[in-house]
Amino acid sequence: MSESENNGASREKDADLLKLQLSKIRHTIMVMSGKGGVGKSTVSANLSLSLARQEYKVGVLDGDIHGPDIPKILGIEDAKLVSDDEGRIRPVDAYHGIKVVSVGYLIESRDTPVIWRGPMKHSVMRQFLRDVSWGELDFLVVDLPPGTGDEPLSIAQLIKGTDGVNAPGAVIVTTPQDVALLDARKSVEFARALGLNLLGIVENMSGFSCPHCGKAIDLFKTGGGKKAAEELGARFLGAVPIDPRIVRDTDAGRPFVLSHEESEANQAFSRIVRDILAQM
Ligand SMILES: Nc1ncnc2c1ncn2[C@@H]1O[C@H](COP(=O)(O)OP(=O)(O)O)[C@@H](O)[C@H]1O
Ligand SMILES: [Mg+2]
Repeated sequence: MSESENNGASREKDADLLKLQLSKIRHTIMVMSGKGGVGKSTVSANLSLSLARQEYKVGVLDGDIHGPDIPKILGIEDAKLVSDDEGRIRPVDAYHGIKVVSVGYLIESRDTPVIWRGPMKHSVMRQFLRDVSWGELDFLVVDLPPGTGDEPLSIAQLIKGTDGVNAPGAVIVTTPQDVALLDARKSVEFARALGLNLLGIVENMSGFSCPHCGKAIDLFKTGGGKKAAEELGARFLGAVPIDPRIVRDTDAGRPFVLSHEESEANQAFSRIVRDILAQM
């Protein structure tokens, strides 16, 4: 066999393996935003956990190569990725049997910057989809870096380019300010251009209810996400207020859906999860 035939055969094998893997994942949900710090990782972790608590089999692919926060939010920072008997990467187990893979496990320390160009990022995303023993999953939630760069593009193309696999769903997270909204528009256009299943927009950090007087304070205004959704013809999934307990829980490695179920943030989040489930 010539070298080019050999390369062709190995590419085909690679594609077959990817297809086999993806055929066992019923739905992928990409969590995206135009801006950083709007709550993508918080939404990804809590969405995964909400689904897992409803007996769905859930995987989380932490696709934020430069800021892999999922292991911290899910309280599994000290875990390690190991390979199984067949030499495949075994994901780390988190709350309610969620399976997690993150670049955070591949770098030496949180302070080590990752300097990778596009092709390298693509190859890591492909490995995470193809070489991880995810098994059968109802949902694979993909937490992404802000913007419409290499990571979301790779995930979208790898999944969309595989025959017979559901198009990935996209949840766009935004905060109510104008700049954040402007960026959310780009994510919506990105999802549409790539033929993703646009599930809708979440407005996070939408108002703040004062723990002392209970009065609502619009720190970053409210309602912008809803307005943007209307303008863009996208679905509005709901608004989650600022709740200081979310920061506390997140820092402690405990997703907020596990506690204070009576809070407005928690109830808003449950409605969002119900809406996403109803669409899939
Ligand atoms: N609704 C909220 N109320 C209070 N803090 C929040 C809320 N959503 C997210 N946060 C906090 O904001 C910070 C950024 O959230 P994160 O999910 O890491 O954003 P991203 O992944 O978009 O960069 C974190 O410290 C997180 O705990
Ligand atoms: Mg993040």
